Amino acid sequence: MSNEAPMAGGIPAGGNGRDARVAAPMKAVNIILDEHRSLAAVLHGMLYLVRAIRDGKSKPDFKLFGAMVYYIDAFPDRLHHPKEDRYLFRLLRLRHPASGDLLDRLEAEHVAGETKIRAVEAALRRYEHGGPQHFSEFADAVEAYATFHWGHMRAEEEQVLPLARQYLTPADWQEVDEAFAGNTDPMFGAAAGDEYETLFRRIAHLAPPPIGVGPER
Ligand SMILES: [Fe+2]
Ligand SMILES: [Fe+2]
Repeated sequence: MSNEAPMAGGIPAGGNGRDARVAAPMKAVNIILDEHRSLAAVLHGMLYLVRAIRDGKSKPDFKLFGAMVYYIDAFPDRLHHPKEDRYLFRLLRLRHPASGDLLDRLEAEHVAGETKIRAVEAALRRYEHGGPQHFSEFADAVEAYATFHWGHMRAEEEQVLPLARQYLTPADWQEVDEAFAGNTDPMFGAAAGDEYETLFRRIAHLAPPPIGVGPER
């Protein structure tokens, strides 16, 4: 994440931390960890809000939930997972074929994640338009998605990144770093990153403390 302090332990003030892209060798590793932290911050925020509603401490803010679901849906699918699949995973398969099963599973999770976030989106729509009797279905979908995505990110951080550090060549890292810094494909470039940074900041400004700086509810 960028060097700005997190907001009260919640969504970091500095957006999705893309400033870290000016960092050292293997900067792709820092970018991946940054992007995971941004996603985790929004997931934690959603869980916090869901639990506050369940405990009767908060009312639903559907605009905020909608922005959070959109971010969790669009950011990994458009920016994060394609870079992992096309660069990091492809090169790791090549240099260390024994990682094939692990990478097969993680690539399948990239596809499955799209279906799972669709379920959260549909549950949110039913809760918004169908009323409080649909709250527990929405809460369960958020909890299930967060558990799924944390497991996915943990496997990448604890298994894939150490293997990549071990087996990728300096030329491989140069290719992966370029891709993650947004220099390879316009789809991954500054404009795409800026869109998510803006959305991330919007979420932080809509969300109430302690997860953001928005109004108390
Ligand atoms: Fe992934
Ligand atoms: Fe990832």
